[in-house]
This record gives sequence, structure tokens and C-alpha cells, in this order.
Amino acid sequence: MCGIVGYVGPRRATPILLEGLKRLEYRGYDSAGIAVGLAGSASEEGGAKGAPKASGNRLQVIKKIGKIAALRAVVPKDLPGDWGIGHTRWATHGGVTDANAHPHLDASGKIAVVHNGIIENYRPLREMLEKDGVRFASETDTEVIPNLIARYYEGDLEAAVKAALGHFEGTYGIAVIHADHPGLIVGARNGSPLVVGVGEGEMLLASDVTAMISHTRQVVYLNDGEVVVIEPSGYRTTGRDDRPVDKKVDQVTWELNNIEKGDYPCYMEKEIFEQPESIARALSGRIDRETASAKLGGLNLDKRRLREVGRVHVIAAGTSWHAGLVGAGLLESLARIPASAELASELRYRNPVVEKDSLWFAVSQSGETADTLYAMREIQRKGGTVLGVCNVVGSTIARESEGGVYVHSGPEIAVASTKAFTSQLAALYLFTLQQARMRDLSMEEGLRFIEALEAVPGAVKKVLGGRDELQRIAKKYSHATDFLFLGRGLMYPIALEGALKLKEISYIHAEGYASGEIKHGPIALVSPEVPSVFVVPDDGLREKTISNMREIKARGGPVIAIGVEGDGEVASIADDFFGVPKGDPRFYPFTMIVPLQLIAYFCALELGRDVDQPRNLAKSVTVE
Ligand code: G6P
Repeated sequence: MCGIVGYVGPRRATPILLEGLKRLEYRGYDSAGIAVGLAGSASEEGGAKGAPKASGNRLQVIKKIGKIAALRAVVPKDLPGDWGIGHTRWATHGGVTDANAHPHLDASGKIAVVHNGIIENYRPLREMLEKDGVRFASETDTEVIPNLIARYYEGDLEAAVKAALGHFEGTYGIAVIHADHPGLIVGARNGSPLVVGVGEGEMLLASDVTAMISHTRQVVYLNDGEVVVIEPSGYRTTGRDDRPVDKKVDQVTWELNNIEKGDYPCYMEKEIFEQPESIARALSGRIDRETASAKLGGLNLDKRRLREVGRVHVIAAGTSWHAGLVGAGLLESLARIPASAELASELRYRNPVVEKDSLWFAVSQSGETADTLYAMREIQRKGGTVLGVCNVVGSTIARESEGGVYVHSGPEIAVASTKAFTSQLAALYLFTLQQARMRDLSMEEGLRFIEALEAVPGAVKKVLGGRDELQRIAKKYSHATDFLFLGRGLMYPIALEGALKLKEISYIHAEGYASGEIKHGPIALVSPEVPSVFVVPDDGLREKTISNMREIKARGGPVIAIGVEGDGEVASIADDFFGVPKGDPRFYPFTMIVPLQLIAYFCALELGRDVDQPRNLAKSVTVE
């Protein structure tokens, strides 16, 4: 979703802002802009950078709908920019227009603001400001921010920002500059992430570390209610009440090449092919053969508390919810703990019962999804213990949960989630093993589980070897307008995820269903034009799924089956068959999702879609 970047330092701000915005593209956006401060004659006459100047400086704002390339095309090549802020906007209040793009200026043109989040009470604030004669240039909620700051400004930008913040209801991550304060940015956070990048003689501010990783790996994560002032020489953080807040500087552990495409044509393909390594990373150091269990130190729960868990709930959205459904299914069957996965957006508003012995997992790649975060806070408010399963280190969910597991998939840039999904599965499988071993799973069975888990990266690698065959299948069906994805048991969430992948990136309508459910409705859709993708492992449900495949074939529907290598019967019923290596049935979610990811990917390529940045979607959805 929206992205923020800001720079103060000795270098020209404009190219740094444009590069930062380019790196934020993956979050999803529909317009972009920058505001840079240009030192006027007063500044040229002397005075240390960072000291307020009375006059001579001005702000130049350039914004444009469409991609960063469109913005770049209208930014003058030689625009210096001594300091500045930039933004990628994903429209919420007001359509996709140049005027609604950020940064927004106050009426005098001296204060510029970029904003992530939503100011819910912007209407009364706007009316109040309009009564005072302020004329608004956009339809956004954001434009009230610079104007309210201007109202309080008496020479101290930080104080004016703090005074204005007291009026805002809703969520924000903001960065503010003032023409008369060269080399200074004020940032504030309430519900939308903001990170300070600490460089040598220069400082950055961004909503996401990817925007500044090429300049510094030393970062400071702001918490809600905190305000930061950055200047080339350093930063200071305070609460809105001016109380100083000491912050820890964190080190980003991943490398720049983790967020570059390398030899791949797009991020999604790269991330699909990274899965053998990313799954191995999620497992690394967490398997204890001696006890045939898992070591998950970050859970921060003692053994007694873990043994007393009576029920597990996963809270999540999108792909992470699908991972949660698999995890919950496995927990029930292996550890015999009642478990469910709930859509965060639903859970939050249905006044959930929070039992004393329940454990809650907030599963989120980004760790910033508003639905998941708010649902988690609701559970915590009622006394529930929530653990995070996140990929992004230092993300809000990771920091606000009582403990958890980082999945270590590395930065996931493509909007459609792939490697994070299989790493989330790995984390939930480890937790299941630990719980099962604390209950009635034998040492021998625990070791068998470990062996199968450790075999997953190799099996996924073999599946990836089937790339060309999957491309052939995808090409054959890519012109269908509707697809069904069907599976049973642990394969039902895999069918849901397969359907989600296809619709997200190819825009082909796809429905995921439990195979047993098709006769209750979806079978009416079956026709020679509607392919059905079955996920059919050699588990106890195979015969039932085969019957469902025959029902589709009998009605003239084409069938694509993702089964197990050498399964002649399934292959003979299906029009097209792809086999994954034979293995322990509990682990097929890892191998069977991969062909579905690749089919979705190749369908999207065939249709000429923007695979990494599909229309209307955002990587990290920070509004409800
Ligand atoms: C967005 C993304 C999805 C993702 C979902 C949950 O809708 O487009 O790909 O699955 O959010 O994101 P999370 O970061 O919480 O896993």
C-alpha cells in the first residue's frame, strides 16, 4: 500500500527519493510524488544546514498518476533538492488524480506532508479550516494535515506537528517538511509503520526498510505515538507529550540482492524458485533430533504454559489465512489440539470468546496488515495471548505480539505471496511438532516427522524442475475465463490458495472449493470451457477425490490433476497431469502448492499481465 521515503543529508535528495519510491513500488500504488526543498539565496549566503532560515527557500512538489517512471519523466533532470520527501499512493479518499497524489501542501505552500493511513475525522477538520478561508486543492483526507500544522506553526515545526496530531483520529505515518527548515524532516507514527535510517552524515525516513537499504542498514523502528526529527547529524525521538524516548538501533540482516530480481524476469518467479532455500531457512536451527521436537525460543512461553494450551486460533488474511488453515488442520490431527484459522477482518467485529487456555497466532508476511493487527489487539484486550508468525523483522505485529516465530523467507517483493506461504507452513509445522511431542506423539513418530520435514526443500526443488511442463499446461488453459480449484483435507486450503494465486495475477475468475462440496452448487458451473484443477495426493481421501474428478469428467469439464508421481489412475482420468514426488502425505501442502503457483504465474505471463504488481492489489494492506 502507500509508501513513504524521506532524505536529509549532503547529497541531492531527488535521485535518492526516486530510487526509494522505485523500491516501494512492490507495495502497490497508483500515483507517486516528491516534495524537495530548494535552498534560496538566504541559504547560499551561509548558515549551517539544519538551522531555520527565515526566507529564500521554497518547496517544489511534483506528482503524477501511474508508475514511478511517469513521475521520473516529469522531474527535471537537474532538480537538486537539498532535502525532501516522497510518496507512493494507493487511493482511498479521492480518485486517482495528480491533485490527490501526495505530497500535499498547506495553503501557503511552505509545508509539505506525505501520509500513509486514514484520517477518519478529516471532514469536520476540513470544514473548520475552510471556514477560516483555507482552500483545498484535493479531495484527500491528508490535505488537512499540512493545513492544521500551519495553523499551529510559530517557528518550531516539531511543536506544530505535535499540536496538530492531537486533532487526528485514525491512522497515520507521516513525514513533514517546511521550506524554512532546510535539512529537517519531522515524522510521526500512529498505526502506519515508519522507520528511521541512520547513515553517516545523512538520515532517511521511510515506511519500509526496502526504501533505504541501499544507503544504510542501521534502522530505528518507531512505535505508535512517537515523533521523530531527523537532521543530517542525527535523530531524536519523543512522545507526543515531548517526553524523550530512547530507541534501539537495529541492524537489517538481509542484503540488497535479496530485493533485486537478478536473472529472473520478475520477482514472483524468483520467489517461487527460492522456496527450497527459504523453507530450509525457516527450519534452520529449530529442529532438535535429541528430543525429536522443535526449538522455538521466540515463543516466550514456558513449558507448562505450552503444555496447557487447550485450543489454537490462527488470525490472518489472504494467503496467510490459507497457511493458517493448513496449520490448524495439522495441529488437530497430529497434536490433537482443537484448532481453527479465522479471517482477521471477521474476527475483530464478532466479539470473539477468548478462553483462558487458548493460544492465538497472528500469521502475517508483512506484519503490518491492518485487519490482522486490529484483530490481534482485540484478542489482547480481552486477555488472550497472541504470538506472531511474521516474515518482516521489526514489523508491528512482530513487536506487539507476546512472542512468536520469524519465518525468515527474506524480503518478498511480488504482491502475490509464494515463498512466505511455504515458510509460514514450515513455522506452523514446527509448532505442531513441538505440541505433539509434549502430548502423545512418540519419539519414533517425532523423528519420522522430522525426516519428512527435512526432505521438503529437496522435494520442492524437484517440483520446480517441472517448470516447462507446467508452462505447457498453463498455456493450454490460459484463455479460460473461469477455473475451479478443488481438494480435500489439507488440500482444501491448497485449492483455495491456488485459486487466489490465479485470480490475483491473471485476473481469471477462479473459485477454490472443498471437493466434496462441488455437488452442492459449483458443479453447475462445469462445462467444456471451465477447467477444474484437482489437488489429489495419495492420502486417505484419494478415492473420494477421484470420484469427484469423475463427476466433473462426466459433465464434460476438463480436469487438470496435481497428483503424486506414478499415480496412473489419476493421470488417466485427468486431461493433464502433473506429479509431485511421493512422500509423507502430511507434507504434500508444501509440494502441491508449487505447481499451482507456477500455473498461475504462467497463465498471467501468457495473458501479458503485470505479474509483480497486479491491478488494485497492495502487498501490505495497512487500512481496513
Ligand atoms: C494482501 C496481499 C496478499 C496477502 C494479504 C495478507 O492482500 O496482497 O498477498 O496474503 O495481504 O498479508 P500479510 O502480510 O498479512 O500476510
